[in-house]
Amino acid sequence: MSKFEISDYNTIKSVLVNRNLKQALYDKGKVIMDGVLLTLHGDDHRKRKKLEHKIFQRDFFKYYEHELFPRTLNETIKPFLDKGSADLLDFGYRITMNLTADFAGIDRSKKTPEETEDLLSLVKIFSQGATLVHSKRSHEEVNQEVLKALDIFEEKFLLPSKKRREVLIKQYKNNEIREADLPRDVLTILMINEDNIPLNDDLIKREIAFYLQAGSHSTANSMTHALHEIFTWGESNPSELNRLKNDKLFLQTCVHESMRLHPASPVAWRKSQCPVEIENNLILKKDDLVIMDLHKANQDKDIFGTDSDIFNPHRVIPKNQFLWGLTFGIGLHMCFGRDLDGGVVSNENTDPSKHQYGIVTLLVKKILDEKGLPDPKSNPEVDVNTERPNWGSYPIIFGE
Ligand code: HEM
Repeated sequence: MSKFEISDYNTIKSVLVNRNLKQALYDKGKVIMDGVLLTLHGDDHRKRKKLEHKIFQRDFFKYYEHELFPRTLNETIKPFLDKGSADLLDFGYRITMNLTADFAGIDRSKKTPEETEDLLSLVKIFSQGATLVHSKRSHEEVNQEVLKALDIFEEKFLLPSKKRREVLIKQYKNNEIREADLPRDVLTILMINEDNIPLNDDLIKREIAFYLQAGSHSTANSMTHALHEIFTWGESNPSELNRLKNDKLFLQTCVHESMRLHPASPVAWRKSQCPVEIENNLILKKDDLVIMDLHKANQDKDIFGTDSDIFNPHRVIPKNQFLWGLTFGIGLHMCFGRDLDGGVVSNENTDPSKHQYGIVTLLVKKILDEKGLPDPKSNPEVDVNTERPNWGSYPIIFGE
């Protein structure tokens, strides 16, 4: 097996859309990732994606963003506002935990901060298990923690959520309630399984655990990176910072620019299933590994300009590219949460009052509206438990 490390934007795009290359980044994280959507290939992946796609529709994202999310956001931020300070990661994880639990189909029956905290501590363990390839900790130790956390998750959260859905699904099948009265989430879709794809209880447990960690980790980190970029840039551009307060479309562009610089996963890995020839003379034998540097590719000067390594929300990019570059992936495994978190790209006909901005922009807006600023007495710190370039803590204060 040979290993190829690539960072050219267009070559990476060709790899990500090629059906002969299989996901390989999570091979070490099997305890939590075995058989989940992101690791499936070929027909198995197509069938599972088709079934779960029913949840990830733009009309529902818009409804979620406009109708459901503002209440969750206000409830979650309130204790932090009362205190006058927050750690961005802590706030980010709490809010996104509720968001991803809604989409995954995990009920929080008590609706208390302690319950969210409980779920969160399990999901952080899942996340460490999934990204084991980048972990600096003992892999054996992490895997043992993941197995224990999965058991606790099943008993405390998954089984009660399944029980409630079983009753509703039965009523639906007996024509006592309408389809619209069923919860709209991945767990319900998998339990009904109208496409009859092979699933079992353990697989459903891993799939739901995967959803919880995939959505929350990336959203919380994206929000923190975006605020850091905006705070830093705002110091030398105070008038622009002022503009952000009233120009939500521009704020969304800032978030997309930050997403470009900070892809949730800095790399993507794929393994060839047979001999494959990719553009730019990348010739692969069966089982060769391709490691793609998304972080570097997102700074490709031919696409993003000569200042591609800095935060510049005014950059002009070619019409057929997204400002966030490869951050949500493309091709077979493109992110299901892209429009939910990133929103829809605006154009000259966009009506700002009806636009779908994406959850990350809404989170950043809320922090700025509440006059959140880095805490002058406590510096942010990077996360030392992973090779991924993320913040471990980011203290802020509210008010002038
Ligand atoms: C800023 C936030 C997010 C970022 C940057 C992000 C990034 C990504 C990337 C790069 C992939 C593809 C990985 C690969 O090709 O190997 C992916 C896949 C995926 N993401 Fe996200 N994600 C985000 C938020 C979310 C949210 C909120 C959800 C769900 C609620 C979600 C669900 C998924 C799923 C289900 C897949 C697997 C799709 C497949 O394998 O076909 N993501 N994400």
